[in-house]
Amino acid sequence: MPPQGVVERAAWLRGEIERHNHAYYVLDAPTIPDAEYDKLFRELQDLEQQYPDLLTADSPTQRVGAPPLKEFQPHAHGVPMLSLNNAFAPEEVEAFDKRVRDGLETIAAIDYAVEPKFDGLAISLTYENGIFLRGATRGDGVTGEEVTPNLRTLRDIPLRLQGEGWPKRIEIRGEVLMFKADFAELNARQRERGEKEFANPRNAAAGSLRQLDSRITAGRPLSFFAYGVGLGSDAVAATTHAELMDRLAAWGFPVAAERRVVQGARGLLSYFNEIGEKRPELPYDIDGVVYKVNRLDWQAALGFVSRAPRFAIAHKFPAEEALTEVLGIDVQVGRTGAITPVARLKPVFVGGVTVTNATLHNADEVRRKDVRVGDTVIVRRAGDVIPEVVASVPEKRPMRDLFGGEPLQSPFELPGNCPECGSRIVKGEDEAIARCTGGLYCPAQRKQALWHFAARRAMDIEGLGDKLVDQLVEAGLVHTPADLYALTVEQLAGLERMGEKSARNLVDAIAASRQTTLARFIFALGIRNVGEATARDLAKHFGSLDALLVADSDALQAVPDVGPIVAASIAAFFGEAHNREVIEGLRRAGVQWPEGKPEPAGPQLLVGKTLVLTGTLPTLKRDEAKARIEAAGGKVAGSVSKKTDYVVAGEEAGSKLEKALELGIPVIDEAALLSLLEQGVQE
Ligand code: IVH
Repeated sequence: MPPQGVVERAAWLRGEIERHNHAYYVLDAPTIPDAEYDKLFRELQDLEQQYPDLLTADSPTQRVGAPPLKEFQPHAHGVPMLSLNNAFAPEEVEAFDKRVRDGLETIAAIDYAVEPKFDGLAISLTYENGIFLRGATRGDGVTGEEVTPNLRTLRDIPLRLQGEGWPKRIEIRGEVLMFKADFAELNARQRERGEKEFANPRNAAAGSLRQLDSRITAGRPLSFFAYGVGLGSDAVAATTHAELMDRLAAWGFPVAAERRVVQGARGLLSYFNEIGEKRPELPYDIDGVVYKVNRLDWQAALGFVSRAPRFAIAHKFPAEEALTEVLGIDVQVGRTGAITPVARLKPVFVGGVTVTNATLHNADEVRRKDVRVGDTVIVRRAGDVIPEVVASVPEKRPMRDLFGGEPLQSPFELPGNCPECGSRIVKGEDEAIARCTGGLYCPAQRKQALWHFAARRAMDIEGLGDKLVDQLVEAGLVHTPADLYALTVEQLAGLERMGEKSARNLVDAIAASRQTTLARFIFALGIRNVGEATARDLAKHFGSLDALLVADSDALQAVPDVGPIVAASIAAFFGEAHNREVIEGLRRAGVQWPEGKPEPAGPQLLVGKTLVLTGTLPTLKRDEAKARIEAAGGKVAGSVSKKTDYVVAGEEAGSKLEKALELGIPVIDEAALLSLLEQGVQE
């Protein structure tokens, strides 16, 4: 026997560790730092190793997992584990409430204990004298599989009951599940290790609990919620289910925070709606709610029909997952050119609607899940989320012949060309998303390309906003940015909410945008990974568009801040014949910029400032002044408005000068402009 001091110390350590476990895992309110906890834990482990007599079945050190089992042992439940009848429609809930009142011969509103229906797997835990003895799955309801060593690894399951008042022998009933966040983490880990991912938290929980080697279970983030008592329920001091749940909580079991007592069918239905709304935010999956007559004596009076109680019912949400068949796999092109494989499905009713298409996210996902045409797949539609293919059921895959052998269909391959415009599809090695490279030309990307082209920081076409772009595209007037320059006042005036005057202004603004800078033009093309700063660097480095067009990846990477990924994007963009045609179209339409070796970009002293040039300046030509203002980050506008910061007036300045005086906009001369360019705005 170990010395008395050691026995006491071990007992104290166990108590402390259990207390901290409870605070951490059940109450979510840790009482000591992890490192302190680890110290206590290690001290106990050391003592138990030194004095094996000290080791008890309920020691918290025993949660880490025992050696593998050959198979699970059958376990006879003290009281059978029954199932619940289901209701889907409000009428079925009302009928349940009526049956209860008829059975109890009352017309008064019944009190119901209501709680979420956890989507995990049912477990029964046997405690003797407050010590966890055995735990088993539901099995056929009468006999389950004993999974005690696995259950011991769950921190939510007390190895020794807290408080007092428990019967000598009691079966605690509840659900083992995996929290959504833990599931996501586990799957990420599985993916990293190249191991199979789980289709959903329920499968992950079931797979993790039914492990013959409890060390595997110990590494899985399982949780537990108690919802009832089997054997021993009559010996618990409680007259209602709600009280019973309070007892379980006091003994150290996690119970649903959402549990409540409501009155009558109305109370049931409003609880159903409330939880339905909360469902997406709950940290764990539920597949409905459970209603139980609150009074335990009434539960007993109502009794059971065949395998289900008369006093309780599960009100289920429409199933979020269903099986169906893949009729084909197409790819869709998003407005940024992202290619998404989509499964065309045999119509299936899931999540409350009929689903015929489901996203497969990206090519890597299709490969990983190995979804093929003809496969039977699990489709999921949760809430308003777009339906997705969760997994393929390989056992149901059509094979070339009846005796196995080769599958009928080969693994999915991305098409080489965009289904919308025929441009090449490319995918970087480290990227999940494949993209269509026909950015300027692809109908799927048309609106996005035009919004970007017209934007203030790009070609700056005043008055051409998102809504108007949509209208132009939908009316079939504009297919590529080059088409903008052919628009007429008549065509525009025909559009909804567009008068003659605004049509004329827009045509003028489009015309004015012809005169631009190379940097703005490059940015306006909407090349992936080429922002404003990169566009400026490219313009500065190459000096002309033609030099940029012929640059290969190495030449591109000679530009500061251009790495292999950006270089690849640029090369892919200019490599696409469709894009080059649009660029040629733009040049033919008269879009131009000063070329040659530009001035080295100076400091950006005029960022956010808008200037208007009017009249003839003494030394600077209009283009030169514009280029220098833009090189300093400023903007040159064609007309004076309240947004104008300065009007630069030369000789024979006309109406713009008048407007500036009228609006009280500062008017400066060339000398003041030069000092602004050198020193910025002195405020
Ligand atoms: S009470 C007499 N309460 O639903 C039956 N069951 O079809 C007592 N379940 O396998 C069950 N959450 O695992 C009850 N709050 C809850 C539940 C719940 C999930 C599961 C249980 C059982 C199934 C019943």
